[in-house]
Amino acid sequence: MSALVLSPALVVAYALAEAMPGTPAPRPAPTSVLAKLPPGYRDWRLISVAHEAGNLNDLRAILGNDIAVKAYREGTLPFPDGAIIARLAWEYVPSAANNKVFGQPQSYVAGLPKEGVQFMVKDARKYAATGGWGYAQFNEGVPVEGVTIANCAPCHQPAKPHDYLFTEYAP
Ligand code: HEC
Repeated sequence: MSALVLSPALVVAYALAEAMPGTPAPRPAPTSVLAKLPPGYRDWRLISVAHEAGNLNDLRAILGNDIAVKAYREGTLPFPDGAIIARLAWEYVPSAANNKVFGQPQSYVAGLPKEGVQFMVKDARKYAATGGWGYAQFNEGVPVEGVTIANCAPCHQPAKPHDYLFTEYAP
């Protein structure tokens, strides 16, 4: 059996690299359940819309891929593997142009995107620890890591009777 031998030069080089200021620390491996935005998600079908007031003050759309929309329409619970739900959000802004037509201030429309794009990805085995759903968020196309993602699943716990989804299919 051959023992693992580290060359002294390698050990010194390693120690130097560790000690040298400005040496970039090794990057942690990305943990986002989606490495990039799912292709075509913007064209997925509509599950529902919502308006959050308060600090969020947004307009949002909940979209689903084909597997998710089929499960919603057929009332399948739990959702099958491969289902992906997307939550998009925009600024909630008054529309001067529309208000002019209506003759009074009543119209609000989607402004710029905000609060990133959130996803729930179903894989019962892979994400067993979080109810079978993997959670992801992208801010300007870049996956968000860390504490933001860790908070997703606990907050969705109250929706457990509906497989952790708050949104109901809008008829
Ligand atoms: C403060 C609690 C809370 C946190 C934290 C939270 N969510 Fe949600 N989420 C909700 C609620 C309530 C809804 C339904 C209302 C809405 O759309 O705003 C929702 C809706 C969603 C939806 C649409 C499907 C559904 O369940 O209605 C997705 C997708 C989603 N969240 C993903 C995420 C992701 C990803 C994270 C973490 C980055 C996250 N959520 C963090 C409470 C939370």
